Amino acid sequence: MKITRVGVLGGGLMGSGIAEVCAKSGYETVVREVSDELAAKGVSRIESSLAKAVDRSKLAAADRDAARGRLSATTKVEDLAACDLIIEAVVENLEAKKELFRELDRVCRETAIFCSNTSSLTITELSATTSRADRFAGLHFFNPVPVMKLVEVVRTIATSEETIATVVDFAKSLGKDPILARDNSGFIVNRLLVPYLLDAVRALEEGVGTKEDIDKGMELGCGHPMGPLKLLDFVGLDTTYAIAEIMFAEYREKRFAPPPLLKRMVLAGRHGRKSGRGFYEYGS
Ligand code: 3HC
Repeated sequence: MKITRVGVLGGGLMGSGIAEVCAKSGYETVVREVSDELAAKGVSRIESSLAKAVDRSKLAAADRDAARGRLSATTKVEDLAACDLIIEAVVENLEAKKELFRELDRVCRETAIFCSNTSSLTITELSATTSRADRFAGLHFFNPVPVMKLVEVVRTIATSEETIATVVDFAKSLGKDPILARDNSGFIVNRLLVPYLLDAVRALEEGVGTKEDIDKGMELGCGHPMGPLKLLDFVGLDTTYAIAEIMFAEYREKRFAPPPLLKRMVLAGRHGRKSGRGFYEYGS
């Protein structure tokens, strides 16, 4: 199946990154947000990232302009009616995603493929709200989307071979290197990453070391580009908390349980880099 037009639901950290790589790779891309203000914020996030890519000589100015020209934003789900592929990247909340997929199923063409960028919900549960479980897959990107090479392509027991082949080819066309994962909460990467991040919060809670030393330990001792607490700030503490809650509900294993310190920080509005403060403070 030929993909020419892509619809991205959500213009947040992940949605804007996904829309950017789609537009850069030649796809007509429509981003849908819930308000004009959020739509404008998503577009401006994409514009800054494109500008950064030009500054770093990763993108020619003409290609930036072409990518910008292929990008549009809307608040109406109906504006995604002509899309061949849908990538949902809204807040990690089951009801919000289900509601959206029900609406998309009504609005989009029968042949359109639906993908979710969920980090921790199962694709099966989302696809069950539509009449196209065979044309439904997981397509999980990593932050920052324009930089990270990986995507996880997730197949459910109902996803057709043709859909998987189309989604894998699409991921490759974005310059990504896909891996295939079964539809288990957290897929491959978050199943390993989330317990590690939560354990770092527990280590801080238990006074094993300072936040700086915990991060330095993993950066200098294991060659990680960011220590776990910096990475938590980067991914978003609220997002990680939501992911951990979902994974804990699924597996009922302590390693996925969000530690009290993480919850307190989320309640206090310390969501990480995006809110200006998490484990560390960030200038605007
Ligand atoms: N567009 C294109 N390229 C860009 C770019 C942009 N907007 N911004 C930066 N780059 C390029 C740079 O040119 C540079 O390329 P080079 O290495 O070829 O010179 C490279 O990306 C790195 O950029 P910087 O030099 O600005 O930044 P750092 O070297 O400090 O690296 C980082 C930043 C890539 C974020 C690095 O710290 C890192 O890899 N951190 C870990 C990120 C990670 O683990 N992400 C996964 C999170 S988990 C997740 O997302 C799943 C979810 O479900 C929770």
